[in-house]
Amino acid sequence: MPQQPRSLPNTFYFSLVTIDPEADVPLYRQICGGIRVGIEDGRLPPHTKLPSTRDLAQIWDVSRNTLRNAFDQLIAEGYLEAIVGRGTFVVEQAAPPPAAVPVAPEARKRPISQIGQALEALGRSVHQPAPPTTGFAIGSPGLDIFPYKLWNRIVNRCQRRSHQFRRSVNGLPRLREAIASYLTSARGLHCVPEQIDIVPGSLVGLTIASLAFVSPGDKVWLEEPCFINAAGILQFRSTEIVPVPVDAEGLDVPAAIKRAPDARLAYVTPSHQYPLGMTMSLARRHQLLNWAARQGAWIVEDDYDSEFRYDGPPITALQGLDSHQRVIYCGTFSKVMLPTLRLGYIVLPPDLVDVYTGVKIPLSIYSPTLIQEAMAEFMLEGHFIRHIRRMRQQYQARRDALVTAVNHHLAGVVTLGDISCGMHAVAYLADGFAEAEVVNQAWQLGMAVAPLTQHYTGEPKRSGLVLGFTDLPPEAIESHIAKLAAAILS
Ligand SMILES: Cc1ncc(COP(=O)(O)O)c(C=O)c1O
Repeated sequence: MPQQPRSLPNTFYFSLVTIDPEADVPLYRQICGGIRVGIEDGRLPPHTKLPSTRDLAQIWDVSRNTLRNAFDQLIAEGYLEAIVGRGTFVVEQAAPPPAAVPVAPEARKRPISQIGQALEALGRSVHQPAPPTTGFAIGSPGLDIFPYKLWNRIVNRCQRRSHQFRRSVNGLPRLREAIASYLTSARGLHCVPEQIDIVPGSLVGLTIASLAFVSPGDKVWLEEPCFINAAGILQFRSTEIVPVPVDAEGLDVPAAIKRAPDARLAYVTPSHQYPLGMTMSLARRHQLLNWAARQGAWIVEDDYDSEFRYDGPPITALQGLDSHQRVIYCGTFSKVMLPTLRLGYIVLPPDLVDVYTGVKIPLSIYSPTLIQEAMAEFMLEGHFIRHIRRMRQQYQARRDALVTAVNHHLAGVVTLGDISCGMHAVAYLADGFAEAEVVNQAWQLGMAVAPLTQHYTGEPKRSGLVLGFTDLPPEAIESHIAKLAAAILS
């Protein structure tokens, strides 16, 4: 209990706390801050009796509730004490201000790991804050045609029985069954549900697999150009990246064998090379599988958007041709459903499941069970197949609109690459047009095109724009390309 209560004039409290109603910091915390500093610097000495909450509320022009919250906080922190019937006082010995600790100059360094330093620049380039976009974002589904009503109904239904959910390390058994059945019939994979692991995005699967199956210093073949986020993961594992050129048949396997026959892993996008768009030929697929079998190497097959093939039936996945169990298959619902679901999957050779799971458990990486439940229902009720069919038709119309618009407005400026599959196109720039300038013009217009050169781990061979065409209706594609052409040609 305070010995000799003292009080200070109300005018003192005016200057003790400066309230900023516009600040992000809640009012009660602004008050706590002012009182705390006053106590620590001695302006509010021990045993000072604070004015009533009514008076202080008037002085600082806040509600009494706000003041009560501030007092509760300061009492809990040990700065104030409330005595029933007498009021609120500064305690005898308030928490001392933190003592100044002598710090040697070397200790001021903020330790950062070698890998942290190496990846800092890459992280910054990959995770730039997304500019507000009016379209052309790569791999972005058409949100204007997504069946939200149906999806939300299923999510709500699952939410109502969420108390029954049980987490499972490798993912919900029903979803793994649904995916195995879909991949077997639609993608030609040979797999059973026990080989499937559900992950919050297929790149997380690649991360876990890379921890389980490659060691620092191992050589890794990577398509050039490639999906740079995948390169980042392999860099994060301190592997030696071996960029391998791609041609009309996909990854140049003979060139890769010449360059690094002893590689431990090859990361490939055979159904739809990312970002250039070609499909790996059957001959190359067999060369790759044979090399992996001979060498005891792993192949990571990233099958990110193969559902959308417009000029013929989908090509069987590489995994379906593999008789030596060397392929680790990665799939995602980010493209075919919504990227915000954070739902992907990986199909492992049976004998790798235990090691992979052993690596996954301590990382505690799981996709939300609610979303897994909803996705399982969406698939098992037959909506998924219908959804893919519908989106494929819509995306085909969007692709055709892009081709027409580019031919009409940008002839002589760009040439489109292979666009028979997927959700984006590469527009190669003609001589005389600088990629950085054109990309900048597109960004000024809010268009989320990406520079092709950014997809190379080594020296870029070609320049151009990577344009997603699935996030805009056909009419908007035409008007956007017209606007872009006007900016480029002005
Ligand atoms: C080529 C490619 N592979 C894989 C992914 C991974 O998708 P997610 O991690 O969202 O499942 C993406 C996403 O943009 C991609 O473009």
